[in-house]
Amino acid sequence: MAIPKSSILTVSSLIILSTLLLSGESRTDTNNVFSPCGDTKVQRKDGFTFGIAFASRSAFFLNNNNSVQLSPCDSRLSLSNGNSQVAVFRPKVDEISLLTINTSIFFPGSVGGYMVAFAGRRYAARSIPAFVANGTYTVTSFTLVLEFKKGRLQNMYWKRDGCTSCSGNSNFVCLNNQDCAIRTNNCRNQGGGGSVDCSLGIQLTFSGTDKHDSVFNSWYEVQNLRQYSLYGLYSNLRNSLTGQYNKFF
Ligand SMILES: *[C@@H]1O[C@H](CO)[C@@H](O)[C@H](O)[C@H]1NC(C)=O
Ligand SMILES: *[C@@H]1O[C@H](CO)[C@@H](O)[C@H](O)[C@H]1NC(C)=O
Ligand SMILES: *[C@@H]1O[C@H](CO)[C@@H](O)[C@H](O)[C@H]1NC(C)=O
Repeated sequence: MAIPKSSILTVSSLIILSTLLLSGESRTDTNNVFSPCGDTKVQRKDGFTFGIAFASRSAFFLNNNNSVQLSPCDSRLSLSNGNSQVAVFRPKVDEISLLTINTSIFFPGSVGGYMVAFAGRRYAARSIPAFVANGTYTVTSFTLVLEFKKGRLQNMYWKRDGCTSCSGNSNFVCLNNQDCAIRTNNCRNQGGGGSVDCSLGIQLTFSGTDKHDSVFNSWYEVQNLRQYSLYGLYSNLRNSLTGQYNKFF
C-alpha cells in the first residue's frame, strides 16, 4: 500500500497491523482509492483507507504553533523530518472493527506519544491529537468515529466515555477525565518490566450517509460502546489483550 510522494512518505517505515473483519470480500469493495491521502466517496461494504500518524503533539501543528492543526498529508508539516510513524488501515465501511497495534513492535511513546487519525487531501479530515503513551502512562483503548456525508469523509473524532470503564479500578488512572490509562511500568516491552501487553486497540465506527444516501448503522451500535467493549468479541485477542483485562474488570 503506497502513500503518495507528497505525503508523509519519508516517515521511516509503515507499521501495518491487523484490520480484523477484512476477510476476502473484496468483490463488494468498489472504492479504488488505497492511499490515506486521496479523496474518495464510499458506499456501504466498500473498504476505506485511512492513516494514523504517531508523533509529538506539536508536530501536528503548523510551525509547531498549537493554533493551526494540519492533516498529516500536508507537506507543510515537518512530520517527515522528525520522529514519527504512520499506520495505514483499510476497514470495511459501516462495520465496527477493532484495529490493533502491537506495542512489542512499536511503542508510541518513543515517537512523542500522540496520534492523529487522518484521510483525504482536498477533502482532508483529521482527528485532534490523542495522548497515547509516555514513560508514565499508556492509554490502550480508543474509539474512533468516521463521519461521512453522501459518502465523503467529513470528520474523524475520538469518542470518549469519561473513564466509566475503569472508575474505581486501581490498576487504571483516569487522565483528563476522559481516558483510562495503565501505568507504563506495568507494560511489557517498554522498559518497565511489567507483564501487561499494552498493545493499542482502536474501536472503529462509521456515522452519517454513503454516496447513495444510505445511513450507516454501526454508529447506533457504538453509542453504547465503552472503552473496552469490543475486546471480548475477538477470540484471537482474548489470550493476549482480553485475558489480562479480565483480571482488571
Ligand atoms: C500562532 O498562530 C497564531 C494564529 O496564526 C498567531 O496569532 C500567533 O502569534 C502564533 N504564535 C506563535 C508563537 O508563532
Ligand atoms: C505523561 O503524560 C501525562 C498525561 O498527559 C502527564 O501528566 C505526565 O506529566 C507525562 N509524564 C512524562 C514523564 O512526560
Ligand atoms: C504482540 O506480539 C507479541 C509477540 O509476537 C505477542 O506475544 C502478543 O500476543 C501480541 N499482542 C497482541 C495484542 O496481538
